[in-house]
Amino acid sequence: MYRSHTCGELKNQHSGQSVTLAGWVQTVRKFGAITFVDLRDRYGITQLLFGEEMSAQLDAQPLGREFVLQAKGKVSERSSKNANIPTGDIEIVVSEFSILNKSATPPFTIQDDTDGGDDIRMKYRFLDLRRNAVKKNLELRYAVSRSTRNYLHENNFMDIETPFLIKSTPEGARDFVVPSRMNAGQFYALPQSPQTFKQLLMVSGYDRYYQIVKCFRDEDLRADRQPEFTQIDCEMAFVEQEDILNMFENLIKRIFKDVKGIDYTDKVERMNWEDAMWNYGNDKPDIRFGMKISNLKFPSHTFPSQKNISALIDGANFAVFDGAETVLAIAAPGCSEYTRKQTDELTEWVKRPQIGMKGLVYIKCNTDGTFKSSVDKFYSEEKLKAIAESADAKSGDLVLVLAGAEERTRKATSELRLEMGKRLGFRKDDEFRLLWVLDFPLFEYAEEDNRWVARHHPFTSPKPSDIEVMINNNPVIENAAEYLKHPYANIKANAYDMVLNGNEIGGGSIRIFQRGLQEKMFAALGMSEEESLHKFGFLLGAFEYGAPPHGGIAFGFDRLCSILGGSESIRDFIAFPKNNSGRDVMLDAPGPIDEKQFEELQIKLNLK
Ligand code: AMO
Repeated sequence: MYRSHTCGELKNQHSGQSVTLAGWVQTVRKFGAITFVDLRDRYGITQLLFGEEMSAQLDAQPLGREFVLQAKGKVSERSSKNANIPTGDIEIVVSEFSILNKSATPPFTIQDDTDGGDDIRMKYRFLDLRRNAVKKNLELRYAVSRSTRNYLHENNFMDIETPFLIKSTPEGARDFVVPSRMNAGQFYALPQSPQTFKQLLMVSGYDRYYQIVKCFRDEDLRADRQPEFTQIDCEMAFVEQEDILNMFENLIKRIFKDVKGIDYTDKVERMNWEDAMWNYGNDKPDIRFGMKISNLKFPSHTFPSQKNISALIDGANFAVFDGAETVLAIAAPGCSEYTRKQTDELTEWVKRPQIGMKGLVYIKCNTDGTFKSSVDKFYSEEKLKAIAESADAKSGDLVLVLAGAEERTRKATSELRLEMGKRLGFRKDDEFRLLWVLDFPLFEYAEEDNRWVARHHPFTSPKPSDIEVMINNNPVIENAAEYLKHPYANIKANAYDMVLNGNEIGGGSIRIFQRGLQEKMFAALGMSEEESLHKFGFLLGAFEYGAPPHGGIAFGFDRLCSILGGSESIRDFIAFPKNNSGRDVMLDAPGPIDEKQFEELQIKLNLK
C-alpha cells in the first residue's frame, strides 16, 4: 500500500494514528538537527517532521524539490499551527521514509505565485498542472461537466458520440483536414461541430441528444478561442424557440448553483439583435452596466426603424461630424473632472490600431451646471447640453463622442464602453448577468463575392413569417451598392445566442427540416444544385424520410468555465492547450512527417 491517506485530509482528530503518505516534496527546511518537509499531492499539503535520527538518514540521501516521497509516521498536533491550510493543525512525525523517485530541478517553482513565464510553463505543462491555481481551474471544469451531465440526464437527454473523421461541416471557419491513406488523394475534415450529425439523430428519433464534444476550427486565435475546443452540444425534436430557451437557461442556472453556489433567480433578459447593436454597438452586450450608446447620427438604412437625431450636431461647421457617416456617444459617470492628461490618454486609446479611430470628442458635464468640451468653438453650451442629455449624461459625467464610418465607429464605441466600464469598476468578476440575444438577421452580405452567407450556419431556419420572402424572391444581388434593399437583407433567423457578461457562451437555432427550404437556402448561399448535393446530399436525403421539426444549441464549454472562474483566457481551463500560434509547445506540434508517410499517403509536398 503506497498510502493510507492523502495529503489534504489529516486533522487534529487523527492525532496519534499511524499513517502513510505519498506525494511530491514542495519544500525542505532544516532547523539544526531536525527537518521539515512539505509534502504535496492533488488534495493538499501536509507537513512532515523528520526528527534527529530521521534527519540524519535524510543527510545520507538528500531530498530535492519535486522528489516523490513516501513517508510513514504518527499524526501529531503542531505546536505552531498554520490556519491557512486545512491540515495546518497537525504534522506527521516520520518514522520511516522511502524516496520513490528523484526529480530534476524544475524549471520554475511549483507554487501559486510561480516565477515561471507563460512559455516555460506551457513547455512544461505537466509541471504547471501540479500548481494549485491550474488544478483549481480543472476542478471547476470537471464540476461544470458533472453538473451539465446530471441536468441533461435528468431531462432525458442521451449522450451519443459522433465521428471525428468526416466531411466538412461549415461553421464559418476553415477545416482541419486529414489525408486518407486508403483513399489516396482524398481527405477527411475534422468537425467544426457535430451539427449535421445531431440533426440526423433527430431524424432517427433520438429526440433529446447531447454531447460534450471536441470541435476543430482553423481560425485566427484570440484569448477566447482555441483551434480545438469543447462544446456542450445539444439538439431537441418537436420544439419551438421558447422550449429551447427555457431548457437551456435552466441548464446554465443549474451550473451556477452547482458550481458557484449562486441562486440565479432573476429572469434571464432578452434583447433582439437590432436593439443590441443600437444600444451597445455589438451583438453580445455586457449588461452588468448601463452607459448605453446615444446614436447622434447614423445611415438610415442600417436602422430603418429608428429616428435620426443628427440635427443636434449637423450644421455647426464641424467638419469631423458633418463628414461622418456615424456619430455615437456614451456618458462615463462621474468622470467630468478628468484632467487634460486623462482625456489625452483616452484619445490615444481610441487611436490605437485595434480601435482605429482618428480622435475623440468629449463634453464635460460639470457639477456647477456648465458644459465644457473639446469642440467649444463649434457648439454652444446649449447644444452641448442637448447632446449630453441624448446620452443620458448626469451632472458630473463625461460624454465621449466618436465619429466615422458606421461599422468601425459602432465597434469602437462598443469597445470604449467596455473599457470605461472596466476602468470604473462596473464589470465585476463575481457578478453574473445572462442575456438571450434573439432575432438575428439570417444572412450577411459578403462583399468580395457579392453574395449572401449564413450568419449562423446554413441549417438555421428563417422566422416562420419570413419563409415566404425567402421562397418567393431570387437571392441574386443585382445591385451590390444597394444590397440592403434586397428582400433577403431583412429576413430574420430563428436563432439565439446566450451571452454571459459580454461573452457569447452559446448559440443555436431552430432548423430547416424540409428539403425544399434547405435547397433554397443552399441556393441563396450561391451553391449550385450539384454542389449542394455533393456536399449535403445525405442531409437533403434524410429530410425526405420523416424529419421532425427540431432545434438546438451549443455552448462553448471552455469559455463558460473561464468566465465562471473569473479569467479572460480559456487556455487556463484546458489541460493541454495550444499557444497563440496554434502550437503545442510541449509536443512541438505541428511538425513535419516522415518521407515514408508522404509516400504512403501519395502526397508530394511542394512548399513555396
Ligand atoms: P457556434 O459556432 O456559435 O455554433 O459555436 C457555439 C459556441 O462555441 C464556442 N466557440 C468557441 N470556443 C472556443 N474556441 C473557439 N474557436 C470557438 N468557436 C466557438 C462559443 C460559441 O457560442 N453548431 C452550432 C450550434 C448550433 O446551432 O446548435 C455551433 O457550433 O461559445
